[in-house]
Amino acid sequence: MKQRSQGLQVSGVSKVFHTARHTSRVALDNVSLALPAGEVGVLLGPSGCGKSTLLRMVAGLEAPSRGQIVLNEQPVDGPGKERGMVFQRYTSFPWLTVRDNVAYGLSINGDGASMREGVVDYFLDAVRLSDVANSYPHELSGGMQQRVAIARTLANQPQLLLMDEPFGALDPETRWQMQALLQQVVKKEKTTVLLVSHDIEEAIYLGDRIFFLSSHPGRLREEIIPEFKSTLPAGDREAMLASPAYREMELKIRRMMSEEKPQAA
Ligand SMILES: Nc1ncnc2c1ncn2[C@@H]1O[C@H](COP(=O)(O)OP(=O)(O)OP(=O)(O)O)[C@@H](O)[C@H]1O
Ligand SMILES: [Mg+2]
Repeated sequence: MKQRSQGLQVSGVSKVFHTARHTSRVALDNVSLALPAGEVGVLLGPSGCGKSTLLRMVAGLEAPSRGQIVLNEQPVDGPGKERGMVFQRYTSFPWLTVRDNVAYGLSINGDGASMREGVVDYFLDAVRLSDVANSYPHELSGGMQQRVAIARTLANQPQLLLMDEPFGALDPETRWQMQALLQQVVKKEKTTVLLVSHDIEEAIYLGDRIFFLSSHPGRLREEIIPEFKSTLPAGDREAMLASPAYREMELKIRRMMSEEKPQAA
């Protein structure tokens, strides 16, 4: 029987934006990467290198100019509910309470009412928003609003979770809690995750593989696999930070970052 290639494959993807005054900008050039099912892939690279653009194409919100994206053997040619996206900016529905925001996708998917309540309560608790379940997003802080968006997307239990700097607006303590939550969910649900990050520690902590993109135009410069984590207790941040292999990898990525200049606006 033919071996099924589950997971995400990005093959030779380029994206050219045509801007006003007939100029064009190559945002991504011939990017190929493979993310096996159940793994966390991190897109890391300087500002403007095309991380959000690539994520939006995997979400089906934008079409590649060249190349192909395949998820679990299905070509991506538009949005689909098997892919959930947490955007770089808050995307809660302002007219719904926190609880109804988290339940939103579940009502669309037609899940039974009692199961739905259980799932909503679980994720409200996980992102520590149970106390404000009946508030509206505008009554919350920025970080709390982002947690609503994270809970809503997780509650839908997508096969592929796409996250664009989901923890950037959170204070360090909450960010660590959310990273730990993501790890638990991924392990439990065997979700595949493609996450954009600026943060090297986050990338090494969460990533099974890190796709480092260079800029002008965005290309895959290197795929980095933090293999040393397999010898450490799973999810133990302090053990990771204390490990010499971590420090070596962090330094290497930091050097790569400083070699890439962020793109001017
Ligand atoms: N809709 C668009 N029209 C024209 N150019 C665009 C569009 N969206 C993105 N770009 C350009 O594509 C390039 C990549 O943008 P993108 O938002 O993907 O970068 P990024 O890596 O996510 O950056 P950041 O880390 O700052 O979020 C940039 O040069 C940007 O100006
Ligand atoms: Mg971006």
